[in-house]
Amino acid sequence: QRVVLAYSGGLDTSVCIGWIAEATGAEVVAVAVDVGQGGESLDVIRKRALACGAVEAEVVDAKDEFAQEYCLPAIKANGLYMDRYPLVSSLSRPVIVKHLVAAARKHGADTVAHGCTGKGNDQVRFEAGIASLAPDLKCIAPVRDYAMTRDKAIAFAEAKGLPIATTKKSPYSIDANVFGRAIETGFLEDIWNGPIEDIYEYTQNPATPRDADEVVVTFERGVPVAIDGRSVSVLQAVQELNERAGAQGVGRIDMVEDRLVGIKSREVYEAPGAMALITAHQELESVTVERELARYKRQVEQRWSELVYDGQWFSPLKRALDGFVNEANEHVSGDIRMTLHGGRAVVTGRRSGESLYDFSLATYDTGDTFDQSLAKGFIDIFGLSSKIAARRDLAQ
Ligand code: ARG
Ligand code: SIN
Repeated sequence: QRVVLAYSGGLDTSVCIGWIAEATGAEVVAVAVDVGQGGESLDVIRKRALACGAVEAEVVDAKDEFAQEYCLPAIKANGLYMDRYPLVSSLSRPVIVKHLVAAARKHGADTVAHGCTGKGNDQVRFEAGIASLAPDLKCIAPVRDYAMTRDKAIAFAEAKGLPIATTKKSPYSIDANVFGRAIETGFLEDIWNGPIEDIYEYTQNPATPRDADEVVVTFERGVPVAIDGRSVSVLQAVQELNERAGAQGVGRIDMVEDRLVGIKSREVYEAPGAMALITAHQELESVTVERELARYKRQVEQRWSELVYDGQWFSPLKRALDGFVNEANEHVSGDIRMTLHGGRAVVTGRRSGESLYDFSLATYDTGDTFDQSLAKGFIDIFGLSSKIAARRDLAQ
């Protein structure tokens, strides 16, 4: 009997290896998926898994796949949960799930394990994702199901002499990938406490005086394809803007968030590349997407973001909405110029071969082709139903 474990290389999932083996009698296969979280090399992580008792350890470089198949749909959908959170962790879980399922098939495992607690969103994303891709697989979460608390994990690591530091553990719970970084717990649990500079890694302090950076992002059908005229992959676009927007303090978010399990929780995020790209993409849509489609898309975006946040990446509704989002991006091609400075990405210019902006209709100067005489009749009829209602309601 084998269990495939989503392995990060950290204390908790390192202890999970032996803990699962003792609790279930199964052999544990560790799988680490690189979604651009940075930190230790995958080889170091793989060797640690084996040293902690895994029978096999696999590492997968999924950075391009993550950017192309998970971050890109989020950019096209301007995916922002509660209008603010660019879905960083929510996007990485489904790609990790895909590789866990592939490893379970390859190694003949009947169970998948993850290190999430029972109070968060991530457990839902893993298990609902597994259920969608491989309904026959079972799921276990040692922290939740076998009461593997932090102090017990440390005691276990020390008793077994596991090659992992148990002392200098960060007071925060951090999840990172190329699309951003999430920081929670510790002193942030008091929602009156302001975040301190120490917690940030992807962004500089926006208040530090520095020169502004100007960038031009080119999109083709909603896909970022060039930065300042140089062709880039989606991964490269996110990485370059993480650097450049991050250096200007763009993309810091401090919010109280509605988790799927009903809890409100304090979350701090930094997602400079994601926020710069979504800002540019939204602006290009406002130039190239027809009004009624654009209005409707804003509702779809909200629902799409909620589904992704709630772990429904592989659900039928999410897939159908992807179809709508792709169709709505057919004409979203062109250039957006932005100034990155003082924690903000500010659009200063737009240019598109698919533009619906018509200078001769918009201008107030000579050359105006808009027939203003048509407006009067339009307004009379447009306002007619409320005028009739007003005649009744004001006639007391
Ligand atoms: N609350 C965020 C989300 O649900 C971030 C979760 C981060 N996970 C973590 N293990 N720190 O997407
Ligand atoms: C966890 O509780 O495991 C992390 C936070 C979350 O899933 O929302």
